[in-house]
Amino acid sequence: MLSARLPLDPQLVLAPVPRRLFGTFVEHMGRAVYEGIYEPGHPTADAEGFRGDVLALVRELGATTVRYPGGNFVSGYRWEDGVGPRADRPVRLDAAWHSTETNAVGLHEFASWAAQADLELMYAVNLGTRGIDAAADVLEYANHPAGTALSDQRRRNGADAPFAIGLWCLGNEVDGPWQIGHKTADEYGRLAAETARLMTFLDPDIELVAAGSSNAEMPTFGEWERTVLTHTAGLVHHISVHAYYEEQDGDAVSFLASATALDRYIDTVAAIIDEVGAGPGSAHPVGISVDEWNVWSQTRWNEHDKTAVLTGGWPEHPRLIEDTYTVTDAVVVGSLLISLLRHSDRVSMANLAQLVNVIAPIRCEPGGPAWRQSTFFPFQHTATRARGSVLAADVDSPEIDTLRHGAAPLVDAVATVDDDGRMTVFACNRSLEDAAELTIDVTDASAATSGYRLVRAETLTIPADGDRHTTNTAEAQPVGMRPLTVPAPQAAATPTPPSSSITVVLPALSWSVLELAPTRKTPHE
Ligand code: AHR
Repeated sequence: MLSARLPLDPQLVLAPVPRRLFGTFVEHMGRAVYEGIYEPGHPTADAEGFRGDVLALVRELGATTVRYPGGNFVSGYRWEDGVGPRADRPVRLDAAWHSTETNAVGLHEFASWAAQADLELMYAVNLGTRGIDAAADVLEYANHPAGTALSDQRRRNGADAPFAIGLWCLGNEVDGPWQIGHKTADEYGRLAAETARLMTFLDPDIELVAAGSSNAEMPTFGEWERTVLTHTAGLVHHISVHAYYEEQDGDAVSFLASATALDRYIDTVAAIIDEVGAGPGSAHPVGISVDEWNVWSQTRWNEHDKTAVLTGGWPEHPRLIEDTYTVTDAVVVGSLLISLLRHSDRVSMANLAQLVNVIAPIRCEPGGPAWRQSTFFPFQHTATRARGSVLAADVDSPEIDTLRHGAAPLVDAVATVDDDGRMTVFACNRSLEDAAELTIDVTDASAATSGYRLVRAETLTIPADGDRHTTNTAEAQPVGMRPLTVPAPQAAATPTPPSSSITVVLPALSWSVLELAPTRKTPHE
């Protein structure tokens, strides 16, 4: 049995939990929009064609924001194609995903769906094939109240009130040679700065996200951020980080330590933000928007599926990167969420990429069911239970040497505290073999509390009849969710008495959520 400790002091606050940390992403790609959120004719579809079963799962997930319409797609997209009467909308080739785009869903439909799903819309403009003009136009169309050609066109198209979109991405992955309209850091930095300037003239209340590197292995990583921020500092509010992880060559140990790579990636971007004078406390601080992150088998995509797509004609909404997630993937997603929460002082928002069907926590079949993948649960746990503030705390854990990421703690954890003093601990055990005893030591100097009780404890781990590759299906879910074991003398899953030291057993390969409630002192104590 491994043994780890998490010292917690509810007064030692790192930062408020950024609610936008629990964002998602819907791209016009594969079956994310068509046959995903939108399927007229599905038994649960509403009058607009949106699937009710998918919408219910999106609400259950507890996400806060949604990035749209891409992704690589946006770098060749004309936003005007998606507004106005459907019969008049052009059918186009989407070169990013070698598909045919019908434009049946566009800004109006998506804004309506996002409002129903209670998601803040984060809209990406095309800085691949287009530029300042088109970005300014879509902003005026979406946000200007009335009385101009574009705002009145929106009103004629059925939206009298502006969409009031507050968050705007300046392009997508422009550093990548795969991107339509790929640019150097200087070319992009200048374009992003001038686009930001005009957009801010039109609507000074918006927040802008400059595109950072596509991943930390890009040869331009670092220099890209430095150059782009030098051009755009004072004009943008966030810079993006994109991060996907996968199990390579059967090396599960490294895969499970992916969050240590994300920790370093975020720390490096934060250091560059500080270097250009845009850190916290500066006149115009820049936050980190991890606006694409997830587990994604990119090797499978690059070495097999991509060729099939490129040679498979121009289908409408083909099945693209519909990764099926395992227990191992869920533990990695949970550990990445721990990393994001641990950086709440620098990460202003984050988007799990993506939401439905395409590398997604939610899957569905045309005319059939919708279901939660294994990765749904760690996201839902953090999105719905990380409240208040993140605590500054370091877990003391045995480490493991990994081939790809160096040393990594076997047990990782982060904690939040809400206004009522309730603490929630999110923890993972990366060991494939050993359970771990995690002892949470609470030091609480406040006069009002006499201890803490463990009031809820759940874990997601390898199910009794499965292995680490077990997945959820439409028929059987959730896999491996069960109450956590609380060691003797307390009985399993029963609340512990008030204590400043609480021990639980994290099964091998597991993700866990623990809720600790304070016990208020009686007047006689
Ligand atoms: O999320 C899938 C793709 O990954 C996005 O279109 C792109 O931005 C990234 O490379």
